[in-house]
Amino acid sequence: MLVTTGTKQPAIGRTTADRELYLFPFTAEDFHHIRSLIYRVAGISLAPSKKDLVYSRLARRLRVRRLHSFAEYIQLLENGDAAEREEFVNALTTNLTSFFREAHHFQILAQHLATLPRNRPVSIWTCASSTGEEPYSIAMTVVEHFKGFDQPVQILATDIDTHVLERARRGIYPIDQLSKLSVSQLKKFFLRGEGKQEGFAKVRPELQKMIKFRRINLLDPQWPISEKFDAIFCRNVMIYFDKQTQFNILKKLAPYLQPEGLFFAGHSESFHNAVDLFRLCGKTVYSLRQ
Ligand SMILES: C[S@@+](CC[C@H](N)C(=O)[O-])C[C@H]1O[C@@H](n2cnc3c(N)ncnc32)[C@H](O)[C@@H]1O
Repeated sequence: MLVTTGTKQPAIGRTTADRELYLFPFTAEDFHHIRSLIYRVAGISLAPSKKDLVYSRLARRLRVRRLHSFAEYIQLLENGDAAEREEFVNALTTNLTSFFREAHHFQILAQHLATLPRNRPVSIWTCASSTGEEPYSIAMTVVEHFKGFDQPVQILATDIDTHVLERARRGIYPIDQLSKLSVSQLKKFFLRGEGKQEGFAKVRPELQKMIKFRRINLLDPQWPISEKFDAIFCRNVMIYFDKQTQFNILKKLAPYLQPEGLFFAGHSESFHNAVDLFRLCGKTVYSLRQ
């Protein structure tokens, strides 16, 4: 097992004073340009107070590309360097997540699974899946409900950030991040690392097989998906978008839900502006307004 540390930690030893000095020139105009670019590319609305955060997230990219200022970096991005644009987006996303986050959603999912017809596969989409804890929690819920790994269930896990998707595919986590799991879940779903991998656990291949990971930008006008889903998890991502972007995405997501499907939102996300599309049917759980 190869374990890498996150890419968004501030450099060790860097102090606030260092950041204030901005070793790479970073003007108000540069910051404005970066805010509008990430909004255009990913829909992310960065608050004006985030200048230091943006500096610390992107300074590493300037070092990697051997650039001397943010103006040069912006030039590179605007010249259409696709690989750098991907790194730019990766650097500016926030990927906080955990296993069985908002645990009540997984109980509701299990109850929902019990109501679904058994004559077709069950389909679930998590559209901001980050480092994988959410899709693996869904997969564990499915296996526990149907009492087996070999069920006709497909889980699609997508995110805009290619680094987190890679980590999700690998499925290796520090043991201390698995504290919400019972001993029997740990045994059933994880392999404990030994030797150099001590302190880490890897998701069992049977569970990994249930999930397809793909990069999808929720802002794209079209998504390469043709099926409908029995449940869509769209949690803790809308908070990064403004109201209009949220509404546009909700409008695009609604037709992907089965008529009886459930839409799971994050704990601080409410869709008052989309009452024509969804109706609340549980704590941050929605169904289609038929
Ligand atoms: C805070 S995490 C939420 C993870 C998980 N859904 C949860 O609730 O624990 C937000 C995720 O949204 C992703 N994201 C941000 N903008 C996106 C976009 N335009 N399209 C798809 N994913 C996006 C980020 O890369 C990040 O992994």
